[in-house]
Parts: sequence; C-alpha cells; structure tokens
Amino acid sequence: MSVDVLIGLQWGDEGKGKIVDYLAPNYDIIARFQGGPNAGHTLVVNKEKIVLHTIPSGILHDNTYNLIGNGVVINPITLCQEMVKVKSWGVNIQKYLMIAEKAHLILPTHKVLDAASEAAKGKAKIGSTLRGIGPTYMDKTGRNGLRIGDILTSDFKSKYQKLKEKHLEIIRMYDFDFDIEEEEKAWFESIEELKNYSIVAGEYYVNNALANGKRILAEGAQGSMLDIDFGTYPFVTSSNTITAGACNGLGVAPNKIKEVIGISKAYCTRVGSGPFPTELDDEVGEEIRKAGFEFGATTGRPRRCGWIDLVALRYACFLNGVTQIALTKADVLNDFASIEACTSYNVQGKKSMELPFELQEKMDCNYTSFPGWQSDLLGSNYGDLPVNLQNYVSFLEDYLKVPVSMVSTGPEREKLLLKQEAIV
Ligand code: GDP
Ligand code: IMO
Ligand code: MG
Repeated sequence: MSVDVLIGLQWGDEGKGKIVDYLAPNYDIIARFQGGPNAGHTLVVNKEKIVLHTIPSGILHDNTYNLIGNGVVINPITLCQEMVKVKSWGVNIQKYLMIAEKAHLILPTHKVLDAASEAAKGKAKIGSTLRGIGPTYMDKTGRNGLRIGDILTSDFKSKYQKLKEKHLEIIRMYDFDFDIEEEEKAWFESIEELKNYSIVAGEYYVNNALANGKRILAEGAQGSMLDIDFGTYPFVTSSNTITAGACNGLGVAPNKIKEVIGISKAYCTRVGSGPFPTELDDEVGEEIRKAGFEFGATTGRPRRCGWIDLVALRYACFLNGVTQIALTKADVLNDFASIEACTSYNVQGKKSMELPFELQEKMDCNYTSFPGWQSDLLGSNYGDLPVNLQNYVSFLEDYLKVPVSMVSTGPEREKLLLKQEAIV
C-alpha cells in the first residue's frame, strides 16, 4: 500500500495535530518523520486537550500504531513525560508506540548550545524554541550524534561523555553560564525508561508494513516556510519539513507516496523571528490572536498574526506536491467584516507571484478583499457553511490550483467538514 503525507504549509501551528487525529482511523500507522520537541501538536477530544511534542498524533486511537521515525530528534525526558500523559488517557503505549533506532538524541548540552547560540546572536536571534533542535541536527550532519540504538550498547555512557566534552569546549567559547546536573540525572533515568519500549529498525518496520498492505500517514512537524532549504533562511528550523523529508525521515521511497495533505490556516501566524510579509501589527492582528487563541503550544509565546499569504502558499503547494488542502481555523474569522488575501508582492516596482531570494521583514503586498461571513459555523455539511466562506474557499482553490478537501471549524476532533468525500 501507500504512504500519505500530512504537512504544514505555513510557519507551523496550522492545526496538523487535530487533522492527523481526525484522519487516524483511516490508517494503520501514523509516523512522525522530522523535528522534535520544538513541535506542539494539540488534540482536543471529549472536551479534553493534550499537546504532543514527539509522539505522533494518532496515539489516542485504538489499533493505530505510531512510529517516531529516524528523522526525528528525541529528548528522552520530554518523551517520557509525554508517555505518562498519554498513558493517563488509557493508551497501551508499550504496544502502540515504536521508536526508530536511528533517531538522534537531544542531550542536555544540546539545549545549552541552543541557548548560548541564541544569546550570542542578540537581536538577530532565530527565536528558537530552545529545545536543542539546531545543535542536535548539527551533530547529526557533522557525524557526531548519538542515536536511540546507541542506548542499548555497552559503551553508551562513554559515547555520551565524549560528545558532552565536545559540547563543553564549544560552550566555553560562548562564555555562557549553565547548570545541567539535575537535568542530566533525569536524562539518564529517562534513557533507562526508554529501554522498556519498542525500539525498531524504522525503515524495515515501515516497508514491511507497506508490503503487507498497511496504510501509513506520515505526520510532518513545523511548516514549509520553516524548511531548512526552502524556508525563510536563516529564520527556519533545522530539518526538511516538506514532503521530501518524509522519505529521508522514514526510509520510504518517493514512489510510495500518494496523497499529500497540506494544512493551512484561513489566515497566517508565525512564532519566533523572521520575515512575515502579511503580518498585522495592528488591532486586526490582535483581534485574530485573541479569536484564535494564538499562543505557542510549546513555548506559550504569543504568535504573530496576519492575513493568508497566497504567494507563499502557492510555493509550498508545489514544493510539497500538495494534492488536497485542509483549511483550519475558519471559525476564527467569523466576526470579521472583511478578510484579505495576499495575491502578489511588489518587488523592485514589479508585481510578483514568486518569493524573492530573501523576504523582507514586511513585504509590500497586494491584497484581494472578501466580505466576511459574520456568523457562526454551525451546520454539519460543507454546503451549510456561509456563502461568503464558500466563496473564499473557491478563490483559494482557483489561485492555488489545489482542491480544499476539508474545512476545520473548531479545535475539537468532530469540528471538521468534508468538502469532498475524503480522498484518503
Ligand atoms: P500544530 O502544531 O499544527 O498541530 O498546531 P497547534 O496545535 O500548535 O496549534 C493549533 C491550535 O489551533 C491548537 O490550539 C488547536 O487546538 C487549535 N485548532 C485546530 N483547528 C482549529 C480550528 O479549526 N478552529 C479553532 N478555533 N482552533 C483550532
Ligand atoms: P509545530 O510542529 C511553529 C520555529 C521557532 C523558531 C524556528 C526555529 O507545532 O508546527 P527551532 O527550535 O526549531 O530551532 O526554532 O522555528 N518553530 C515552530 N514554529 N510551530 C512549530 O512546530 C515550530 N517548531 C519550530 O519558533 O522561529
Ligand atoms: Mg504547534
């Protein structure tokens, strides 16, 4: 069978977790393929909320297996804390969670390096989540990293010590104060705990499952505009967040990928530093933040808010080969009299529908205005949605040349309207 991929099309926090949770019953396996505890994927089920950072968002469903793929970076402490939370929901995590042996480990000193690097950058800081993501991927590509499989080897402690010493050398150059004694203790306790779970050769797990007719949904973290190659570099994360990352991050071949489900909010947000062409620094932005409760699921930071950016979305659609879009948080715009969509930028006096090499902090954007629908989204069919919202969706489809298959109208699992029969 095939792999479908679900990815964020903007700067993260598009509502990926909610859509994965909704779609999970259609799949046998949900597999995270990149990122780490910088992600925060929120699920709302039976009026209760859970935020997942490392565990895939299919974990609350019976009979759905969940794989943390080789492309993910894992902090054992965060993962164990998450396991405790998930267990309290009655999930048999020992049975339903697999961890790829080639996934890399985030060490306490990776977090210190992240913080020291950010402090040294001053005003030019990335605004990272300080979870040690960048330094861990640096050690991976620098061929110094420690992997989950290493925890089962007899010389793991000395491998750890060697890498830690290397980090301490670098931290000395930064002249950065830190104390990791407590954290290190908890880290080793969590490492011991992880030995009780299924550590697997992820690439065999996935490909054997495919050969046996199983269906897999690859769950992306972050968003396309945070991709290390194609995002707003250097204000990006350190992994490939686009569809191609699912191949590297799980060990699946490109010809195994079928549907690519791109998630976009009906507007746009960003957390951390970097260009955001359609950002609204005014009361409209504040209104969106309030209505959408736009505060980071991982760090609690207020998210920057703005109108939807179709130039960036079109870019994300072709980079990912998006075959269908799930439009989320449409309800957040319920009270707005008018809604804007950026359809082009003015670059050096010329209208452009392409992203320049470097985006400016604020681009000169051309907008198309839409009358708001100014009503609640109550019905249970797509056709029940207000006509003005349906017109907005049609405009997005025409512009992006990709069908919108789902519209999400609230954080809860059941608040989702299918525009077409589910394509998955
Ligand atoms: P992710 O990182 O892409 O999984 O997204 P986050 O969980 O970080 O942020 C999305 C936020 O929006 C969460 O608080 C979700 O509960 C919430 N959410 C998801 N879909 C909707 C929706 O359609 N409407 C509203 N109002 N909230 C939503
Ligand atoms: P989910 O999966 C939103 C942002 C950070 C920062 C930049 C680099 O929940 O959508 P990092 O810690 O990765 O080195 O930070 O990327 N960022 C996210 N923004 N959602 C996320 O994940 C993010 N993960 C990282 O704010 O700007
Ligand atoms: Mg998030």
